[in-house]
Amino acid sequence: MKTRQIIGSLSVSSCLTLASCTTPLSQETPDPKLQPVHELPPLSSRPAAPKSASIKGLQRGINLGNYLDSPKGTNWRPDGIGDDYLAHLSQLGFDHVRLPVRFADYALEQAPFTIDEGFFKKVDDAIASAHRHKLSVILDFHHYEKIMHEPEAHRARAIALWEQIAQRYQKQALDTLLFEPMNEPMDKLAGDVWNSIASDLIQTIRKSNPKRLIIVDSAYWAAASRLPELKLPSPKQDPNIVPSFHMYEPYLFTHQGAPWSTPKEMTATKAIVFPGPGPKPVAIPSAIGPDLAWVRDWLNDYNKKPVQDNPSGMTRIIQEFAHVDKLIQQGYRVYLGEFGAIEYADMKSRENYVRLIREEAERRNIAWCYWDDGGAFKVIDRKKGDVLPLRAALLNETSAK
Ligand code: BGC
Repeated sequence: MKTRQIIGSLSVSSCLTLASCTTPLSQETPDPKLQPVHELPPLSSRPAAPKSASIKGLQRGINLGNYLDSPKGTNWRPDGIGDDYLAHLSQLGFDHVRLPVRFADYALEQAPFTIDEGFFKKVDDAIASAHRHKLSVILDFHHYEKIMHEPEAHRARAIALWEQIAQRYQKQALDTLLFEPMNEPMDKLAGDVWNSIASDLIQTIRKSNPKRLIIVDSAYWAAASRLPELKLPSPKQDPNIVPSFHMYEPYLFTHQGAPWSTPKEMTATKAIVFPGPGPKPVAIPSAIGPDLAWVRDWLNDYNKKPVQDNPSGMTRIIQEFAHVDKLIQQGYRVYLGEFGAIEYADMKSRENYVRLIREEAERRNIAWCYWDDGGAFKVIDRKKGDVLPLRAALLNETSAK
């Protein structure tokens, strides 16, 4: 199976004024090579799916990536998240933002693990700005990479960090600030180890925030297929625990060409469409050895299988959502904290993908959050203006506003 490695994606653009955020893109000439990308079957032809209870005030969100999740000493987003920009997001129809924050870089390594006050103030400001524009906030504890590889060595520190975060924001309104104690657990932070640390973090938060919504990611980068492993309090024991997943399957489509992803042998392979097969077969890179048989098999299937069985297609997505459905049937509200398709994929395929995932989430009443606004998966080109076709697919617009 694949490895997903994340070392961050850079935000390259800046949007200093609202005007520069909204300048319309020039009319693009359609690339004739893209014409054969198939249409997806309509919603009405898809298998029935259960509906969960909704999360109050939360339906459509966008991740404000590459800002407070930049490694200490770097600034991936020099333009920050200005008021005009947040007002723009709100006008577009988003009701919440997910704020990835790299708290672990801004706290003492030893007890009492104090979080830097200056950094905390930046987080306060970001939350307050979002709230000014009627955007609820998911406060997401992002990129604590050391805990992934040495969970026990970092358990006490993670607990101490959450004690401080939870106490600082305990007076905030319950509906507009939600906590996500760990983004994308991976490597050794899985199975019983993750369940046990997640339980410690939940109990820590509950001491100061008995009723706040807590979003808990599944292991393996929040894979839907790992949702069944999560051992959470039942909805009766604690109705404010929300299991969460991220949707980047099929990974070789959504992350094609991503410089930070693995296998490295695939970073030069682009032109994978959704749904497949594509207009012309994708060559299997010669560097794909026997240890990467899954990549070879996937590409072979992608090149050969008809649209209804293609691994880059709807069947794959329906399989992923089947894991989600089990939790809905147990009475949980589920949250989709990240999904998206990278800008190296053609726009028609990105639109197909984004529309499909959004529709599958919305018909289950699952609140979703696109990754992200202006990084490599961008829906908004913060330099030139909106990436309109993707925006229409994301926000279910028939014509751009
Ligand atoms: C990471 C980003 C990455 C995205 C898609 C996020 O969780 O923080 O750096 O671009 O996932 O891989």
